[in-house]
Amino acid sequence: MALLNQKNKLLATLITITIIAVVASSQDEKSQPCPDACSCPNIPPALGLVCNGQNLTSIPAVNISAHFVDFSGNPLGELTNQTLAPIRNAHNLEILVLKACAIYSIENDAFDKLENLRFVDLSSNGIATLAPGVFTKLLHLSEINLSENNITNVSTHWFAESAPIRVLNLTANPIKHLEANVFDRLNSLEELRLDQCELHLIDSHAFDGLFKLHTLNLSHNQLTTITADSITWLRELHTLELNANPWQCDCNLQAVTVILLMRGFQTLAANLTCSISNNELSNWIDVNTTHPDCDSQIKMHARRTSLIGNSEKHRIKAAKLLSTNASRLSAASALFFSQKPADTYSPAVIISLWCAVIILLAIASYTAIYVTSKMCVYATTKAASAAKHAAHVNRKKSIVRRGNRECEQALVNDTSHARDNFYMVDEASSDVSIIAIDG
Ligand SMILES: *[C@@H]1O[C@H](CO)[C@@H](O)[C@H](O)[C@H]1NC(C)=O
Ligand SMILES: *[C@@H]1O[C@H](CO)[C@@H](O)[C@H](O)[C@H]1NC(C)=O
Ligand SMILES: *[C@@H]1O[C@H](CO)[C@@H](O)[C@H](O)[C@H]1NC(C)=O
Ligand SMILES: *[C@@H]1O[C@H](CO)[C@@H](O)[C@H](O)[C@H]1NC(C)=O
Ligand SMILES: *[C@@H]1O[C@H](CO)[C@@H](O)[C@H](O)[C@H]1NC(C)=O
Ligand SMILES: *[C@@H]1O[C@H](CO)[C@@H](O)[C@H](O)[C@H]1NC(C)=O
Ligand SMILES: *[C@@H]1O[C@H](CO)[C@@H](O)[C@H](O)[C@H]1NC(C)=O
Ligand SMILES: *[C@@H]1O[C@H](CO)[C@@H](O)[C@H](O)[C@H]1NC(C)=O
Ligand SMILES: *[C@@H]1O[C@H](CO)[C@@H](O)[C@H](O)[C@H]1NC(C)=O
Ligand SMILES: *[C@@H]1O[C@H](CO)[C@@H](O)[C@H](O)[C@H]1NC(C)=O
Ligand SMILES: *[C@@H]1O[C@H](CO)[C@@H](O)[C@H](O)[C@H]1NC(C)=O
Repeated sequence: MALLNQKNKLLATLITITIIAVVASSQDEKSQPCPDACSCPNIPPALGLVCNGQNLTSIPAVNISAHFVDFSGNPLGELTNQTLAPIRNAHNLEILVLKACAIYSIENDAFDKLENLRFVDLSSNGIATLAPGVFTKLLHLSEINLSENNITNVSTHWFAESAPIRVLNLTANPIKHLEANVFDRLNSLEELRLDQCELHLIDSHAFDGLFKLHTLNLSHNQLTTITADSITWLRELHTLELNANPWQCDCNLQAVTVILLMRGFQTLAANLTCSISNNELSNWIDVNTTHPDCDSQIKMHARRTSLIGNSEKHRIKAAKLLSTNASRLSAASALFFSQKPADTYSPAVIISLWCAVIILLAIASYTAIYVTSKMCVYATTKAASAAKHAAHVNRKKSIVRRGNRECEQALVNDTSHARDNFYMVDEASSDVSIIAIDG
């Protein structure tokens, strides 16, 4: 009996020890307590750590299966590889919010081993410079918010070449210049915010490589001009903000206006104002295009823009909009160049064209052949007579006739206008810059 009792005692002790061991071990690897000043929301699968504005100077250890960490409003100062060490074993961490953390610099290895981060918010810090390569370890980075910092220079080398970055927010940084190719690694970028950045100058190749950009915010800057080339090739652009800049509406901005109209930004162009020397505000869309030097520029840009997919459906509308005012007639006519985008020709057509060119060259060597190009012009009667007068005054060569039949091609997609207002123009040589209209 005593033996049995002793056996039972031993068993009980063994069981107790086992239980304690199990409890202890489970406490070891599991249920690490949530840090005092923080909360640990756990709404599967989003498990996270939130320590907002707690005056903490270091990040507490985080659950290894955490998906997000929000440490906003705590003074971190410099971001070194030690600062982020407590979150480095959380391999599922996708979201890191370090907003208003008084971060003034970021060491190059700070983001080591955090390659699953997709969303990083570093807004409202004092970051002035970012070393090249600072985010290159973040291979899955998709959105980064660097707004309200002290960044002066933008660099494409901050990011990994393959990072699928869709959103880059640089709102409210003192970035005065944008140089050529500063975004050329960001081929996935869809939204770029550069508003409130004190921008003065944008290189015409600054946005090169942004094939997927659909939203560009350049409002509230110090821009006086922008080149047509910098926006022509942004094929996917559908939201563009340019307001609150001191625009100088010269020949260059006239070309930009034509591009905007062709790309369907009619409302934008109508709402943009020019800051002209006499402080008189006028809309971009009312800009005067009678300056002869402007004509060739506008035509060139219009031709290039017609190569961009979505321009075709806006072309006629844009020309109509411009041609209601005689001073913009040549811009309107540029939109009617009866030139097809080269890349829509089939190989068979290209071969025949080459044959035709060779034959023509052969003929031309015997007879001085005069090849004329044609354009279709839409004009109101008032605009037409003003243009005719201008041509007469400037002694320009002009050959114009009503040409509804020849313009049929241009009318295919548009049935809303009065066809009588279309004219066919033979442009005998490239120095014909003003077009007079019979009628
Ligand atoms: C992490 O969170 C999960 C889910 O809440 C929990 O089961 C686990 O014990 C936690 N691990 C640690 C080390 O705290
Ligand atoms: C934050 O902590 C510092 C010392 O770590 C202290 O001097 C300061 O008063 C604290 N601020 C607030 C708002 O608690
Ligand atoms: C942090 O930096 C130190 C010194 O440069 C280095 O020895 C260490 O490996 C780094 N730690 C991590 C996690 O990158
Ligand atoms: C930003 O940087 C300039 C110098 O480049 C400095 O004078 C200014 O204090 C900084 N501003 C902030 C908010 O850190
Ligand atoms: C930073 O950008 C993200 C989107 O990229 C946005 O959700 C977040 O609200 C922004 N933060 C601030 C402070 O505006
Ligand atoms: C960008 O930052 C600004 C200013 O912090 C904020 O208002 C905006 O919501 C952010 N937007 C995106 C898309 O990041
Ligand atoms: C910004 O970049 C330009 C040219 O790359 C350089 O001359 C200038 O010193 C840079 N400014 C800063 C503050 O790094
Ligand atoms: C563009 O920036 C301005 C000024 O910061 C802001 O009011 C506007 O909402 C922004 N628009 C878009 C589409 O980002
Ligand atoms: C542009 O102006 C029109 C009125 O002319 C207004 O209805 C519209 O909201 C404005 N659009 C923008 C983006 O400011
Ligand atoms: C033509 O443009 C000028 C210059 O902006 C403007 O003053 C005038 O009102 C416009 N005329 C018409 C008919 O729109
Ligand atoms: C447009 O420009 C022409 C030539 O430079 C000038 O004669 C005319 O007055 C200008 N019209 C307006 C409305 O500014």
